Amino acid sequence: NIKKRVAELLAKMTLEEKIGQMNQYNGFWEVTGPAPKDGNAATKYEHLKKGWVGSMLTVRGVDQVRAVQKIAVEETRLGIPLIIGFDVIHGYKTLSPIPLAEAASWDLDAIKKSAQVAAAEASASGINWTFGPNVDITRDARWGRIMEGAGEDPYLGSLIAKARVTGFQGDTAADLSKPNTIAACAKHFAAYGFVESGKEYNSVEMGNNTLFNMVLPPFKAAKDAGVRTFMNAFNLLNGIPATGNEMLQRDILKGSWAFDGFVITDWASIREMVVHGYAENGTDAAEKAVKAGADMDMESYLYVAELANLVRSGKVSEALIDDAVSRILTVKFELGLFDDPYRYCDKKREQAVIGSAENHAAVLDMARKSIVLLKNENQLLPLKKNNQKIALIGALAADKTSPLGSWRIAADDNTAVSVLEGMQKYVGSNLIYEKGPDYFLGKPAFTEEVQINYSDKTGMDRALEVAAKADVVVLVMGEHGFMSGEARTRTEIGLPGFQQEFLEAVYRVNKNVVLVLNNGRPLALPWAAEHIPSIVEAWHLGTQAGNAVAEVLFGDYNPSGKLPVSFPRNVGQCPIYYNHHNTGRPTNVDNNVFWSHFIDVDKTPQWPFGFGLSYTTFSYQNLKLDKSTYQRNDRIEVSVDVTNTGASDGIEVVQLYLRDVTASVVRPVKELKGFERVSLKKGETKTIRFKLGKEELGFFDNEGFFQVESGVFQVFVGGSSQTVLEARFELK
Ligand code: IFM
Repeated sequence: NIKKRVAELLAKMTLEEKIGQMNQYNGFWEVTGPAPKDGNAATKYEHLKKGWVGSMLTVRGVDQVRAVQKIAVEETRLGIPLIIGFDVIHGYKTLSPIPLAEAASWDLDAIKKSAQVAAAEASASGINWTFGPNVDITRDARWGRIMEGAGEDPYLGSLIAKARVTGFQGDTAADLSKPNTIAACAKHFAAYGFVESGKEYNSVEMGNNTLFNMVLPPFKAAKDAGVRTFMNAFNLLNGIPATGNEMLQRDILKGSWAFDGFVITDWASIREMVVHGYAENGTDAAEKAVKAGADMDMESYLYVAELANLVRSGKVSEALIDDAVSRILTVKFELGLFDDPYRYCDKKREQAVIGSAENHAAVLDMARKSIVLLKNENQLLPLKKNNQKIALIGALAADKTSPLGSWRIAADDNTAVSVLEGMQKYVGSNLIYEKGPDYFLGKPAFTEEVQINYSDKTGMDRALEVAAKADVVVLVMGEHGFMSGEARTRTEIGLPGFQQEFLEAVYRVNKNVVLVLNNGRPLALPWAAEHIPSIVEAWHLGTQAGNAVAEVLFGDYNPSGKLPVSFPRNVGQCPIYYNHHNTGRPTNVDNNVFWSHFIDVDKTPQWPFGFGLSYTTFSYQNLKLDKSTYQRNDRIEVSVDVTNTGASDGIEVVQLYLRDVTASVVRPVKELKGFERVSLKKGETKTIRFKLGKEELGFFDNEGFFQVESGVFQVFVGGSSQTVLEARFELK
């Protein structure tokens, strides 16, 4: 029994050995951010040998992991194995689409499978723990880390959090010790997705309504799904750093939620509390962090330096240390590391699992399901496999690195299938590829700014000549894979560089343009939305990107993705989200200027949350409730008939939204409370049923208590958040 084993081990440990378990060091340098450079390597090595290191991150590969594990197990007094962490964010070597793209699939099984593949490959490479999933709800397209989450909605975000946690860890606690699962980490606790103006590492000022109803639910869902670790965050929340935030970590997470895993800090975030102006110095920062409930220090070097003195001087009680260490040791036991510290170090398995055909099939499936068809006029898509001269244009079309996206530390450059390669499998001589001008300069890297090409238009004329002669032009444009992710805030969210000018030039010579977008955030594309007949949102789709795009372009996969985030018309609309509150003047009833709007742009998004087209069409009829009045404990049954009215088979994500019309704390105008991904043959009708209970009807009040209030509710059903059908009921 793990509890007993932990207690026995703890009893043998010196104070320094205990604190060592709370210390995590980076295994490489300059990989994940503003790290102290490898000047500390010698000290780290000494600490490792003394048993003063409980975990390492970014060590990878069976050989390397075995080497550091051997030191921990064979050279330290107690031989406590390390837990090896890594940012396995959307795959390890065989990459899935970026998480935001995966969310566009609304396919929880596929998302879970994608996490399973990631866990299988990472664990085969010696890793026991991923710093994922990122469950930060975000409404601001300017923030680069929007690519890492599931978008703007807490309901969808919570279900995806569960899918990812169980994908990484398995469904039961016992699954964690299997060699092909890894511990997950819900991050960043909390509210990091709401940094002001989307500026990276910025502060967050937030009321309880948003905190309890928007930010925390996916974290709670991760906890309920059994996630074994949480990561705190870089940001201040209402003036208190998340890392030193007792209310978040002690009161909510370890208190009300009774979370019994451990909390890791974000990179150097204990030390950063001094820079924030919350701690006087490193000693004060370590004291505040440990008291607030941060169990493991990632790369601040402060627990290892300060905690022993803090305990000896009586400022920090040893009971706090014991609690943190017990949590960490428990997860190590659960992973099976004490039974076999080399459980994840099987060279043969590493070779067999990484890059297997099965893994490629899974990420391809995920990639095709992540694509969202934003516009398709005159049935320009699907393309014809014969008798059509297709020009494929754009520097991103043959790119085999950018589609891998951000946060792909273990995957090598040039390992994605490009759109060109994908399309070549369908058409031979009918396809002409012309690169056109470079969009980016040099070879963008994870730790560097992407250099955007603003002026060198070499290749533009040639591309325009090719475009003019084609029947249809497929133009691949957007952001480089490293233009989103950590520290990639943008204040303009259109096409980078002169791509807009290039797009308009192509359109002038040939109106039959299919714009394939590559991006890690919503882009504002008002001109394209108005003029370009077909627009395909292809995000950064990972290793199988080009194959998935080609399948969609040629109609072998009928697009089924729906946006997990609103796409603004321009950056000034940010933050924009469907589940907002009503103002007192939402519409122009008095026919004058005094209503809630912008004077220079429509207030609706370009493409709303939940939106996505198919090559077929769907219609909704007969929205029915089983009653018109319900009691608190009733299950409310909603049904709707959905018909495939087009000419091909397809998949529709049927979405149900609720509004609690009057409440003691005002509720949003719409909140997603159910969805189903439905396959419909052409001409087929299916009746889709949803069940609603307290969980869907209630909300958190400003004290954090869940309330279900009587009154009138509206139900909306349709194929996006701009739904088509509406009904009402009363809750007594
Ligand atoms: O896991 C990440 C986190 O999301 C951002 N800072 C660095 C960590 C480790 O790489």
